[in-house]
Amino acid sequence: MRGKLWLFSIWVLFLWGSCSGRFVVEKNSLKVTSPEALKGVYECAIGNFGIPQYGGTMVGIVVYPKSNKKACKSFDEFDISFKSKPGGFPTFLLVDRGDCFFTTKAWNAQNAGAAAILVADNKVEPLITMDTPEEDNGGDDHRENITIPSALVSKSFGDSLKKALEDGDMVNVNLDWRESLPHPDERVEYEFWTNSNDECGPKCDSQIDFVKNFKGAAQILEQKGYTQFTPHYITWYCPEAFILSKQCKSQCINHGRYCAPDPEQDFSRGYDGKDVVVQNLRQVCLFKVANETGKPWLWWDYVTDFAIRCPMKEKKYTKECAEEVIRSLGVDLRKINDCIGDPEADMDNPVLKAEQDAQIGKGSRGDVTILPTLIINNRQYRGKLDKGAVLKAICAGFQETTEPAVCLSEDIETNECLENNGGCWQDKAANVTACKDTFRGRVCECPVVQGVKFVGDGYTHCEASGSGRCEINNGGCWKETKDGKTYSACVDDHSKGCKCPPGFKGDGVNSCEDIDECKERTVCQCSDCNCKNTWGSYDCSCRGNLLYMREHDTCISKEATTQVSWSFLWVIFLGLGIAGVGGYAIYKYRIRSYMDSEIRAIMAQYMPLDNTAENPHRIQHADI
Ligand SMILES: *[C@@H]1O[C@H](CO)[C@@H](O)[C@H](O)[C@H]1NC(C)=O
Ligand SMILES: *[C@@H]1O[C@H](CO)[C@@H](O)[C@H](O)[C@H]1NC(C)=O
Ligand SMILES: *[C@@H]1O[C@H](CO)[C@@H](O)[C@H](O)[C@H]1NC(C)=O
Repeated sequence: MRGKLWLFSIWVLFLWGSCSGRFVVEKNSLKVTSPEALKGVYECAIGNFGIPQYGGTMVGIVVYPKSNKKACKSFDEFDISFKSKPGGFPTFLLVDRGDCFFTTKAWNAQNAGAAAILVADNKVEPLITMDTPEEDNGGDDHRENITIPSALVSKSFGDSLKKALEDGDMVNVNLDWRESLPHPDERVEYEFWTNSNDECGPKCDSQIDFVKNFKGAAQILEQKGYTQFTPHYITWYCPEAFILSKQCKSQCINHGRYCAPDPEQDFSRGYDGKDVVVQNLRQVCLFKVANETGKPWLWWDYVTDFAIRCPMKEKKYTKECAEEVIRSLGVDLRKINDCIGDPEADMDNPVLKAEQDAQIGKGSRGDVTILPTLIINNRQYRGKLDKGAVLKAICAGFQETTEPAVCLSEDIETNECLENNGGCWQDKAANVTACKDTFRGRVCECPVVQGVKFVGDGYTHCEASGSGRCEINNGGCWKETKDGKTYSACVDDHSKGCKCPPGFKGDGVNSCEDIDECKERTVCQCSDCNCKNTWGSYDCSCRGNLLYMREHDTCISKEATTQVSWSFLWVIFLGLGIAGVGGYAIYKYRIRSYMDSEIRAIMAQYMPLDNTAENPHRIQHADI
């Protein structure tokens, strides 16, 4: 056993990803209902992509294309479509193996309207599992988008199907996945082999997306006792001779016992393999501790939150960040640290030892060597890692009629926000929470309350932003009313946070304390004044006949004030006087010019003047 693991280690440390060990091909059956000569049940192997209808059946007719028989090209080029007409049977497209990826064939079949794809093997051999190409081969674009089920059939069965079709027979088939998974009782046991590394490209992304999407369903099934879920993590160990090498020191913990490949496959930068092992160990320990307290489903919350809050990209893949997530979920951190133990110690870690032992295949299950791997009722799941597809498979693992309601309807009712507020931020005083229940399980997202948008990470803090933010719980800032006066530390611009108003000091959130202006000797310090502190302000009075002028922070005599007002009055009088004189002068001038024109008018009646044309007007004017 140790020898075998050692082989893995060499190979995985330097060549992450292919496959050896004992591999079990998952099968379903294909039943031919006509023609008579072909009637019977045939075995086929479920592909590692697309959506197998676990627990279900599908009927259709087989079609073998006249051209593009390997389906390596788009059927559009040949103007062929397999879309069934309304009421017609769905098409099961039979194609030949070879020349291109299985996923390419399936993608072309799906686009041409086929309901399922049957790939006929091109040599005589036991059935194999059709897998997706490795990421870097570039032929992988369609993997996530394939939704039709796929199956590999043996060469001889493929030949019989082709012969029947050539003879003009209509071949009716029934693909059956009902027996693909054992379904002995009313509880399904399943394992998910995963990894906390989030920098391994599409494989890691699809793992974490699956966990996020499946979380809601997984938690319901677990809480109601329908399933028993166990997460697992693969580790390798460093061969004896290399324990002191730089590679093993950076990739392993516990003296070379537990190793993981470097996340960036670059020993000199970023995180090391041993960082991944420790985070993996923390995830196993979290599951163990949560399981002991009867809440194994907290693993799903932890793993999603950890991926969101502590990504490698942001350099947050750390112990501190992980512990913050654990605390927010209300799990006992001390127990988890006990479980992790000392990664430097030259001794076994019982938890990781058990994980290594579990990697070895038992009974109907092969060795686990590929991540991610999902094992349901001790059989390896085949197909796409997708919420609907996996749920279907798990549901197929229940004995008939014992399946939970979630298997019969898609709507999953749960409110994870009710407990521990889902580990999200909340402001109890204002009754505002970042926990939102969705069909994918809860998310921690700062809310919008009464039109006021909260901003923050949703886990440890959210704060109201924009105008109106002070309307809600005073923007989380200090506010107090005393003796009919109210002071608040909330300002409309949230980026400024909370600010104690003038006359107060403090953080503005929990408290603002009155500043004793008198004691601090900032105001009212003139020799004639008498200072008295008040809440939020101060009173200053001056001795004798003096008056306090607040804006100048000084005392002045009341007489001085009177003189000032007299001088003001003088200015007014003077102004009035000037205005009066001016007015009189204008009056006099007007009178004179009026008299002048009157005299001229009277004189004009007796003697001719230069401008007589004007005269009648003048006279008329005077008559009014
Ligand atoms: C697969 O589907 C996604 C989402 O529907 C889409 O964004 C993407 O372009 C698709 N990929 C291919 C190769 O069609
Ligand atoms: C989780 O708890 C259950 C019941 O307490 C137990 O049967 C099961 O073995 C535990 N799983 C692990 C991995 O410890
Ligand atoms: C808090 O708000 C929710 C909905 O916004 C409401 O259902 C609940 O009754 C409120 N609780 C309190 C204590 O005000």
